[in-house]
Formats: sequence, structure tokens, C-alpha cells
Amino acid sequence: MSSAATVPRHIAVIMDGNGRWANARGLPRKAGHRAGAEAVREAVEICQDLKVDYLTLYAFSSENWNRPEEEVKSLMKLLERFLKTKAREITKKNVRLQAIGRLHLLPDHVRRELDQVISDTRENDGLTLVLALSYGSREELVDATRAIANKAAAGEISPDEIDGELVSQHLYTRDCPDPDLLIRTSGELRLSNFLLWQLSYAEIFISQKNWPDFRKADFEEAVAEYARRNRRFGKV
Ligand code: IPE
Ligand code: IPE
Ligand code: MG
Repeated sequence: MSSAATVPRHIAVIMDGNGRWANARGLPRKAGHRAGAEAVREAVEICQDLKVDYLTLYAFSSENWNRPEEEVKSLMKLLERFLKTKAREITKKNVRLQAIGRLHLLPDHVRRELDQVISDTRENDGLTLVLALSYGSREELVDATRAIANKAAAGEISPDEIDGELVSQHLYTRDCPDPDLLIRTSGELRLSNFLLWQLSYAEIFISQKNWPDFRKADFEEAVAEYARRNRRFGKV
């Protein structure tokens, strides 16, 4: 089989289990988040090696704003540091950074760094790394619905023109193909408000490992498993 058929073009990851990773080691949760940020580099490298085109990482959900203030603060600090340092190294190798979510809700100090890396890597044409930040799929669908309704009210489109393609074009992910493979770590069996529309036909791979322990070999296992799947898209 050719690699085009077996390698997913777009991998999405729910990076879960940082807190449990830390807990198991008697460390504070933020140590788990730090270790989780380290694991991102390896994920990017393996996707580059495999010639995956898009990697979307669920880093902070709409619901994660409801965590204790101290944890949210330390996550935002870590995100700023990640963007200032690691994201710079990662994107040196022709990686383009993008972000999806209600980004205007992020603190200014994070937003500034995020905008900077996005703009600095705009011309890169290797792997596209998409960070889902302050992201919730229901919020995304609400925002898309509102945008479409506004256009209809202004007479720019007719309600009859609304189809799946038009909805897709109003999502934060408008520039991305749908994910082929969804990986969730830490054994949880749920989507947690992640890409509900876009994951309609994704293959799902659940790992029992917590995100900081999910290494290259685990990624390779997920991709090998994907290659063995029979994607039918409702056909026979
Ligand atoms: C994932 O790890 C990272 C974020 C959601 C920000 P968690 O923080 O959810 O870790 P667990 O699930 O509590 O172990
Ligand atoms: C999903 O993990 C969000 C991210 C990985 C960023 P959560 O830990 O927030 O999800 P639940 O609460 O277990 O569903
Ligand atoms: Mg979790």
C-alpha cells in the first residue's frame, strides 16, 4: 500500500492525563503540564518524519476555564513560555503554527506571543501545527451559526444555500481538512467538546498512557493501527 493511503493526513490529539501523571509521582499538577509541554516536541517530530500534513493539539478547552484560578494561571504562564521558547525551536523546521478557539479570551500576554509565532511562521509549508486553545466545539458551532445567520439576514446568502460545505467554511478549522485519526491519551472514552463536526469519520485511537508518557513509539503504534483500519464512510 502506498504511504498516501496509510498515513493520516491530519492527526488530532486530546492530550489528557497531565494531572494524573504528576499525581502518580507525588508532584503538583503543574509539573504534569510542564512535562506535557515537553511531549509536544516529540509529537511534532514524529509527524514530520511520517509526513503528516496537519497536527491539531487540544491544549486548553472552553471548560478548562472552570478549573481553580491558580491552575488556569499557571497553564497560561506555561503557554506563554512555550510560545516564547519551545514553539520557536519547533517551528524552525518549516512548521507553520495556527490556533483555533475563542482566542480573544486568552490573556494579552499569551495572545501577543501566539500572534507573533503565527505571523512569523505563516510562510512555512511543512507540517501545520494547530493549537486548540480556549476551544470548545459547541462554541465553534454557535459562532458559525451566528456568522451564517448574519449573512442571511444581510441578504448575502439565501438559507437554501446552507449546506455542509458552507457550515465547514464558517468553522475555525475552515482552512484544514477533517482529522483522519483522533488520539486520546489517559484512557478516557469521550470527546470532551473537541471537533464534534470535524471528527465525524475520524478513526479513534485510545491510549492508556498519560500524555507526558506518550512517546514516538506510541505515536507510531497509533499510526500503524490506523493503517489497518477499514474506513468505509457508510459505504459497503
Ligand atoms: C490535560 O491534562 C491538560 C489540560 C486539560 C490542560 P489534565 O490536566 O486534564 O490531566 P488529568 O486529566 O487531570 O490527569
Ligand atoms: C480535555 O481534557 C481537554 C484537553 C486535553 C485540553 P479534560 O481533562 O479537560 O477533559 P475531561 O474533563 O476529562 O472530559
Ligand atoms: Mg484531564
